[in-house]
Amino acid sequence: MLQDKNIIIGVTGGIAAYKTVELVSRLRKSGANVHVIMTQGAQNFVTELTFREISGHPVVTSMWDRVQEFKVEHIALAQLADMVVIAPATANILAKMAIGMADDMLTTTVLATKAPVLVVPAMNSNMYTNPATQQNIGILKDRGMLVLEPASGHLACGTAGIGRMPEAAEIFDYIANYFAEGREQQDREELLAKLKGKKVLVTAAGTREPIDPVRYIGNRSSGKMGYAIAEAAVKCGAKVVLISGPSSLQPPAGAEFIPVESAREMRQHVLEHFPNTDVVIKAAAVADYRVRDVAENKIKKDDEELVLVLDKNPDILKELGQLKKPGQILVGFAAETQNLLQYAKGKLEKKNLDMIVANDVTKPQAGFNTDTNLIKLLGRDGSVEELPLMSKKELAYIIWQRVMKLL
Ligand SMILES: Cc1cc2nc3c(=O)[nH]c(=O)nc-3n(C[C@H](O)[C@H](O)[C@H](O)COP(=O)(O)O)c2cc1C
Repeated sequence: MLQDKNIIIGVTGGIAAYKTVELVSRLRKSGANVHVIMTQGAQNFVTELTFREISGHPVVTSMWDRVQEFKVEHIALAQLADMVVIAPATANILAKMAIGMADDMLTTTVLATKAPVLVVPAMNSNMYTNPATQQNIGILKDRGMLVLEPASGHLACGTAGIGRMPEAAEIFDYIANYFAEGREQQDREELLAKLKGKKVLVTAAGTREPIDPVRYIGNRSSGKMGYAIAEAAVKCGAKVVLISGPSSLQPPAGAEFIPVESAREMRQHVLEHFPNTDVVIKAAAVADYRVRDVAENKIKKDDEELVLVLDKNPDILKELGQLKKPGQILVGFAAETQNLLQYAKGKLEKKNLDMIVANDVTKPQAGFNTDTNLIKLLGRDGSVEELPLMSKKELAYIIWQRVMKLL
């Protein structure tokens, strides 16, 4: 996420300045271009040389430095920045920024930049809780600056309380998350443009095959993955038909919802909608077999043994694969307990799918009735993409992003 991002680090005159050395190192290792601006106060705590070596760039210590790299422009770094981070931020710089001062390179850069500014205050707790400091922080927040609040604990001044600068790892994570969220937002907007107006059909949850009027053969599918896929498509402006087996979930508002019970019922509705559908994602767990002779009345437990004869259900996915027209996309799911990739690949080919979502339902936090899932996406071109453990809602967007690439 941070590759080639230009991060300007402002270091001010606080004892926690030593932690910023590690922050710069982490940012640089993650691919960011890091430029450091030090206030005069900061130079009493850490040397310019240290930051120069760690960042790999000259350090700006004065507005009047002749920094050739930035053509001596006093706002060059402000323009270059993807983010300005002030860590540690002294009470002094908070006050200066609150009133809009520009008496050194750091305050001038902050005033001139259009990039997001992250402030990491660190100071003695009395200084931090002083109404003047709190008011200044409030002003900066109101102006849209990001503030990473200090932690409580032992302070360098010998007291304990709030004011300690978070560790470098925490600040780094905050910055990385900020850019990750921005990227996600951008991806969603792209997806929105592509899915808008598309007709999609999603099947979800497990079917129920009746044994008698009170009993059925079912499976553990909750419908969470399918409903998340339908919801994501609705949010991206697609026309969504959700055909679902029984589920305790609320269908997403805006989707045409068709509740069904058995595999044959599901087949009938799927085939009805298929001809004018752009994309079908079959996340339902459809029963492979149904009971041949469904009892008219509740079966009594008079016999020691009960034998049910099962007939094979129609293979909806396979039928769709045969009916599929050029331009239609068909995505299946493979929930397996063994030989995941092998079975998923076989299903992809046999059923003429464009993509298959494979999940090993034996893995903790994956598969049935969990809010998270661990999946692999297999493409027709032989590609296999392994995704990390994620919420089903997040995965739904990723699945749609990959599907849209196929259209
Ligand atoms: C040893 C020492 C430690 C200091 N630590 C802090 C601190 O952690 N936070 C803070 O806000 N000020 C601290 N100060 C006070 C600032 O250095 C001082 O307000 C200075 O004017 C800040 O200038 P600057 O914001 O331009 O860097 C400390 C001062 C000294 C002498």
